[in-house]
Amino acid sequence: MKQLFESQHPLVKHKLTALRDKNTDHRTFRELVRELSLLLCYEATLDMETTQKPVETPMGETVGTTAKETIGLVPIMRAGIGMTDGIMQLLPNVQVWHIGLYRDEETLRPVSYYNKLPKEPTVQICLILDPMLATGGSAIATANIIKEWGVSRIKYVGLLAAPEGVEALSTAHPDIPIHVAHLDERLNEIGFIVPGLGDAGDRMFGT
Ligand code: PRP
Repeated sequence: MKQLFESQHPLVKHKLTALRDKNTDHRTFRELVRELSLLLCYEATLDMETTQKPVETPMGETVGTTAKETIGLVPIMRAGIGMTDGIMQLLPNVQVWHIGLYRDEETLRPVSYYNKLPKEPTVQICLILDPMLATGGSAIATANIIKEWGVSRIKYVGLLAAPEGVEALSTAHPDIPIHVAHLDERLNEIGFIVPGLGDAGDRMFGT
């Protein structure tokens, strides 16, 4: 089953428009990615499990709520790194496990170059972070790695998706919800999302 969640939040739409603008400089681009990631993570964690916790206020006692699950962020390098900062402000105790993948420019297939996951899983939920879901190859490869690691509850959080990427990820991993700011029109002949925002990694890091 396809589980696509496209944000309807006006702030997300506003910030995404600024992010797409080709005249937005690198510093502003990074800041917008940080803010958008925080907003999208807020939406993606709506169904987090909680437990009750007694709390003493200055006025007396009550029963509050506390988060129950251990969350791991899995940013796909490079561009996913830009999404971790904002989310770590929201979830300061998360673990961050970087996965290094790049797309071969000819085949568009992901090539792995970094993975330091420990043997045993240390978290209960993983959020895959990558601004762009283009062909879906990088997200699928990352989800495969995480499942092999032993974590089955996975969510994808990104900024833009192409229909082709959503289809591929949903087919390979129907259990993974996809949270994005916007579903764009299509991929172009070199695998870029259109209208998109260009190359997220290049715009983030000035390369
Ligand atoms: C881009 C992007 C995703 C990937 C998406 O990374 O940041 O990781 O491509 O494409 P896919 O859905 O077709 O796999 P890129 O390979 O350009 O590497 P970079 O982040 O190091 O620039």
